[in-house]
Amino acid sequence: MADLSTSYMGLKLRNPIIAGSSGLTSSIENIQQLYVHGAGAVVLKSLFEEQINFAINKTFDQSENNYSYPEALDYISHYTRENDLEKYLKLIREAKSKVDIPIIGSINCVSSSEWVTFAKNIQEAGADALELNIFILPSDPRRKAEQHEQIYFDILQSVMKQVKIPVAAKISSYFSGMTNMALQLSWTGISGLVLFNRFFSPDIDVDKFEVTPSHVFSSPAEMFQTLRWVAMLSDKVHCDIAASTGIHDGEAVIKQLLAGAKAVEIASVLYGKGFEHIGVMIKEIEQWMVRHQFVNTSEFIGRMSYKEVKNPAAFERVQFMKHFSGIE
Ligand SMILES: Cc1cc2nc3c(=O)[nH]c(=O)nc-3n(C[C@H](O)[C@H](O)[C@H](O)COP(=O)(O)O)c2cc1C
Repeated sequence: MADLSTSYMGLKLRNPIIAGSSGLTSSIENIQQLYVHGAGAVVLKSLFEEQINFAINKTFDQSENNYSYPEALDYISHYTRENDLEKYLKLIREAKSKVDIPIIGSINCVSSSEWVTFAKNIQEAGADALELNIFILPSDPRRKAEQHEQIYFDILQSVMKQVKIPVAAKISSYFSGMTNMALQLSWTGISGLVLFNRFFSPDIDVDKFEVTPSHVFSSPAEMFQTLRWVAMLSDKVHCDIAASTGIHDGEAVIKQLLAGAKAVEIASVLYGKGFEHIGVMIKEIEQWMVRHQFVNTSEFIGRMSYKEVKNPAAFERVQFMKHFSGIE
């Protein structure tokens, strides 16, 4: 009998498939369904500071007396913010009382001051861990790369001072010095790195002359960038890695584990194929383990990492030379 359990950020997971942060993890009904269908853990939909601010402005615009009483803004701001936050904390409490798998809170903030308060509240509500969804689009031409990167460290350091639960940084692949950055992030004391977040990207409608959303969901071909970096980094960083983006079947999970990930976070495939697909993926992993006579996941996690493979340079190839790709 194959034992699929794994340890991620010091949390024991019954299997490595984590339902990643998305709209699918924002209700108690869905969290219960994800649990029933076998998810190893759930990362809640991120609490966005932007979203909270939007809610505040909307409430204020709709208020009839909005200009009569300047102090009304303060009151509404406070009320809406607390209300959003309270809903989020209620979801954590409910999830913890109804399902028996780790519940990971998630925050996306743009200022460092609010992070700390949210993080503390999430810990107090009973979350098993916290994932910080950090992305600063490097769009300001006056700001150098180091200034952008410093924000990550400032955020992590201020949160780490406040909470005791394990903290993961979910990052993008937009770093010119990826290995060094990942290593430095892992030295801050975080317990996990999630490689990589996948973002909303804009498209252009050529008839309506409008900016529209491009592919909201990933395709399986997108997982190879993650695979390269998981393999290259898993032996080097001082924390666990969860792989994310483009993981749509059991074989993709196996590949990421072989490269050194302790777990994976999935979203798009759950939108496309439903929560039942977690069960299909688990079966595929089980069957592969039996075929290769693995009894537990620790026997193969990291077996194909950069350090372990016969030819690590294979992970470093980027150019389409005919010799490697077989195509001119
Ligand atoms: C509709 C949607 C909403 C998402 N919302 C969040 C979010 O709030 N916070 C976050 O960290 N990631 C969010 N993600 C990113 C996913 O958690 C995941 O990292 C990413 O989609 C890559 O995994 P996938 O290829 O399995 O979709 C969202 C993804 C989708 C498709």
